[in-house]
Amino acid sequence: MSGLETVVKFSYLSDENRWDANRYNFDWLPELDEHDREIIRLLDCLRDGEFSGQASAAQFHDLMIQAKAAGYTDDLVADWSPLFSYMNVIVYEEMRHGLAIGLIHQYVTQGNTSFIADMNVREFGKRYIWCYEERRYWDLYSYILSHLFSEVINTELYRDVVTRIHHPGLKEVLANVRNDEARHIAAWTALVKDLLNADPEHKVRALASLQCGLTHHNAMVHETYFEGLNKMLPLFISEPKNKLGPIKRISKQKYRILLELFGEDNPYSESDVQQIHLQYLGKAAGHTRARYSETSPGNIEFVS
Ligand SMILES: [Fe+2]
Ligand SMILES: [Fe+2]
Repeated sequence: MSGLETVVKFSYLSDENRWDANRYNFDWLPELDEHDREIIRLLDCLRDGEFSGQASAAQFHDLMIQAKAAGYTDDLVADWSPLFSYMNVIVYEEMRHGLAIGLIHQYVTQGNTSFIADMNVREFGKRYIWCYEERRYWDLYSYILSHLFSEVINTELYRDVVTRIHHPGLKEVLANVRNDEARHIAAWTALVKDLLNADPEHKVRALASLQCGLTHHNAMVHETYFEGLNKMLPLFISEPKNKLGPIKRISKQKYRILLELFGEDNPYSESDVQQIHLQYLGKAAGHTRARYSETSPGNIEFVS
């Protein structure tokens, strides 16, 4: 497929699978039981993560402008066009996720449904769009790879949360979000593959940035990411013995994508991927805030 066919295919899939948010009017909210409310209380940082899709778009353009200034050629820049187009599709979907989760979270924690009306535009902009100055962990290639591999984590998290939830209305909203995230994995995989095939230079650069792209979640761009990571870890469901636990499911998917993108140039085995993921979780354990640092391991300096 040409790059444009790929992005058009995933835009029409987005159109066809667009779910009705019912103007964020969830009239079943008073019916949520205590079990479901307990889960929702853990999702404030997930709301932030969804909204930080806005920062992704801003920082992507920022990174491209920097790359151009550093001599990245016009042809290489132009190869990214379908990825920038898809960013425009996906940012709206992530906004919908943030609105749905934010509104449900506010209802459960404060008893009202005025989340959208209450949201201050300046605060929104500072928290979710212009939030990345201290958290510039990526270059262009590691950033796109982070977006792709993070959708694997997102899909698996929502999969497990949907399994736990009791109320059919809430289950449906979160299943819709899960399905969006799964489609995002497929789209980014296809679009990155097209990019890598467009010029050998892209593959060289992507491989050089792969470790950061494979490990760093793109939602690390917002302030509460590590708080959320630690808070939501218990939501991943460990399966009975004969089935795959969450780390195994995530590593398997990431490995499959690595093979699809890089073929025999893929430097990691499935157990490497699992190790890297576990090391990252170990490093993040107990932390709530971080920023970029030249000197810290993995360039992540934990500040609390
Ligand atoms: Fe999302
Ligand atoms: Fe997504």
